[in-house]
Amino acid sequence: MKIKKICCIGAGYVGGPTMSVIAQKCPEIQVTVVDLNEARIASWNDADVKNIPIYEPGLSEVVSEARGRNLFFSTDVEKAIDEADMIFISVNTPTKTYGAGKGMAADLKYIELCARQIARVSKSDKIVVEKSTLPVRTAEAIKSILDNTGNGVRFQILSNPEFLAEGTAVEDLLNPDRILIGGDTTDEGQKAIEALVEVYANWVPKDKILTTNLWSSELSKLTANAFLAQRVSSINALSELCEKTGADVSEVAKAIGMDSRIGSKFLKASVGFGGSCFQKDILNLVYIAKAYGLHEVADYWEQVIIMNDHQKRRFANKIVSTLYNTVSGKKIAFLGWAFKKDTNDTRESAAIYVANDLINEQASICVFDPKVSETQILSDLNYLNSRNPDENRNSISVLDNPYEACKDSHAIAVLTEWDEFKTYDWEKIYNEMQKPAFVFDGRNVLDGKKLTEIGFIYKGIGA
Ligand code: UDX
Ligand code: ADP
Repeated sequence: MKIKKICCIGAGYVGGPTMSVIAQKCPEIQVTVVDLNEARIASWNDADVKNIPIYEPGLSEVVSEARGRNLFFSTDVEKAIDEADMIFISVNTPTKTYGAGKGMAADLKYIELCARQIARVSKSDKIVVEKSTLPVRTAEAIKSILDNTGNGVRFQILSNPEFLAEGTAVEDLLNPDRILIGGDTTDEGQKAIEALVEVYANWVPKDKILTTNLWSSELSKLTANAFLAQRVSSINALSELCEKTGADVSEVAKAIGMDSRIGSKFLKASVGFGGSCFQKDILNLVYIAKAYGLHEVADYWEQVIIMNDHQKRRFANKIVSTLYNTVSGKKIAFLGWAFKKDTNDTRESAAIYVANDLINEQASICVFDPKVSETQILSDLNYLNSRNPDENRNSISVLDNPYEACKDSHAIAVLTEWDEFKTYDWEKIYNEMQKPAFVFDGRNVLDGKKLTEIGFIYKGIGA
């Protein structure tokens, strides 16, 4: 079976970049990305390709090559479903904020709505691909909805988790470590797997395309993210010990990373991991383990999140204690708000929690981030529901000039590792700050030695 038309439901951080690369690499396949959010689709269609809603290095070039040729963005969800042979589901699956599993289980309502819509609209056989990260056995739920509410057409469900990391999405999509496709072990299931393998084989070597059963594929995605997050929490746990003992966490990370069994990646101590996936996926894992009565397994993984929360709180506490136990009325400049560099995504960013803690201590925060808007920053804080929106607005300001943001501040906190921070005129920043001038480098990106020579009191993580 050769795929001619693909529909992707959800034009977010996963659906948008993934479909753009599929369209670029498979000019003979028509790819339509649909979303209920009209403003988001309008930005994807903006005549100026620089205005697409997601910032990712290299993405606007891919979009401008394929858009209008075989890549389309639309709000007409039904038409795109009806025409497609293969439908990717890339909608958001936030953590539940109500009812059973609140704060832990994935909220599958958007997935279920998609499945019901696909069942209602489809008049021909379709392959439905789970792209969003989902708890194990979600495919079963989707299948049950499709088989029981459809028009008698046949559906095959595949799990094809996305491993791209934000900030390097295009590179990760063009040169993936592996593509994982899970499906039914029946003949029909295998044919569906083969059809998706052929799509990726347009640019990915076949030996990097792994096929498994559905449940292995679903669980592998959660496991990959849990392992990565665990490494960050492990090094962050050690960073606290380093600060007490005089060891330097960067030296420890380098020394252990050269052991080929450990490897050097994901050992960068930080103010804490963020992003839409790590916490959510571990919570999913914990919830599933608990549901099966596996309490030791659940507790083991939950500790990764407990450590991460501790690391964020510890960073805020350190600012307060270093600033003579009070930040009340003091200006603290934040460099960075995104959860990592090279993205405008702020979901679960450590900056949100650190800002919240400091505002509780009556600090006045001034933020500069090269890609994040003021509206987003305020909406992130309001989402925490710690205080009313007016109070948030009075406690935080956002400037588009880093020097202005740092001017007259008592301390600078680096929350995101944007490269440009290294190139600033730190002498100028120092001269315009209150003294003593503190820098709390939550990413260990600045040259601590040079900053100390200028006169700053520099505090990195884990040293
Ligand atoms: C992650 C996975 O890497 C990706 O495979 C999956 O598809 C989605 O989730 P992402 O969240 O986009 O990707 O970014 P990632 O690079 O994994 O970083 C996650 C968080 O960990 C960031 O806040 C980052 O700053 C932090 N981090 C990462 C560290 O603090 N130290 C490290 O050494 C690595
Ligand atoms: P991710 O990081 O997983 O891509 P995003 O929140 O960035 O998550 O994107 C998910 C997108 O899915 C959002 O733009 C949202 O509007 C869209 N969406 C959610 N449910 C539906 C639906 N039933 N039909 C179409 N689009 C949907």
